[in-house]
Amino acid sequence: MNLEVACVLGASRGIGLAFVKKLVEKPEVKIVFAMARTVEQIDYSHPKLVKIYLDAANEESFFQAKEQMQKSADHIDLLINCIGFLHENEVLPERKIDEVNTENFVHSLKINVLPSIFMLKAFKDMLRESEAPVIASLSAKVGSIGDNRMGGWYSYRISKTALNMALKTAAIEFQRMKSSSRFFLLHPGTTKTKLSEPFLKFAKSKYKIHDPEDTAKNLLNLINRNLDQKEEPILFLSWDGERLSW
Ligand SMILES: NC(=O)c1ccc[n+]([C@@H]2O[C@H](COP(=O)([O-])OP(=O)(O)OC[C@H]3O[C@@H](n4cnc5c(N)ncnc54)[C@H](OP(=O)(O)O)[C@@H]3O)[C@@H](O)[C@H]2O)c1
Repeated sequence: MNLEVACVLGASRGIGLAFVKKLVEKPEVKIVFAMARTVEQIDYSHPKLVKIYLDAANEESFFQAKEQMQKSADHIDLLINCIGFLHENEVLPERKIDEVNTENFVHSLKINVLPSIFMLKAFKDMLRESEAPVIASLSAKVGSIGDNRMGGWYSYRISKTALNMALKTAAIEFQRMKSSSRFFLLHPGTTKTKLSEPFLKFAKSKYKIHDPEDTAKNLLNLINRNLDQKEEPILFLSWDGERLSW
């Protein structure tokens, strides 16, 4: 991957922060933009790192973030969105249909889908300036319709399925505009973060549990291994390389 300038959304913690730390270590990387709404809480510094405030729920904030980036770069080679919402305070994923409510459903769509659309809308000129831009959003296996065997988690599942459709649609449009662009939807595997924390006890018996650093490394390798697969506009991949069913 031609990787001089990288931009990570959701860089405050978890997998996003782990990506930032991995990327600044790479000798070919010159600058990493780390975007978050809690940017002042990113407890990490590096000469290659530029922290930028982003309110992911506000479209205008993406254009302001672009202006900030343009002070130090004219293009983006790698854009990764790690923002995700599954639970907050007493709001937990729904186990049954009776638990679905408008507020949680709409919030899930707002946080899990729209930022991936707005980052492309706001940053497309900078992506176009890259020789071969790579765009990735962290999706989830539970967003696969074909793989849905357990049910439950309505708002999160549906929002990840919608994210997959949003990015596939954008990948088709971007390929017309810039045929060298590559798009990925990535299932990171169960990773020890605030998002997965309430479910780790159950998950431990079923899945391998990763540290965020392993996940960031796995996913960067996964992207690199799949850059030449150009038969599809976008790949929906699991951390272990499996192609996931839409
Ligand atoms: N961990 C797993 O096992 C797992 C499995 C499958 C998929 N994923 C996906 O991987 C991605 C990264 O998750 P993670 O595990 O690293 O979770 P995490 O540690 O909880 O990080 C979530 C990120 O999303 C941001 N975020 C959440 N709500 C937001 C809001 N309302 N507005 C703006 N930003 C918001 C957080 O920012 P703040 O710090 O500002 O809240 C944080 O940067 C997510 O898309 C998740 O769905 C994770």
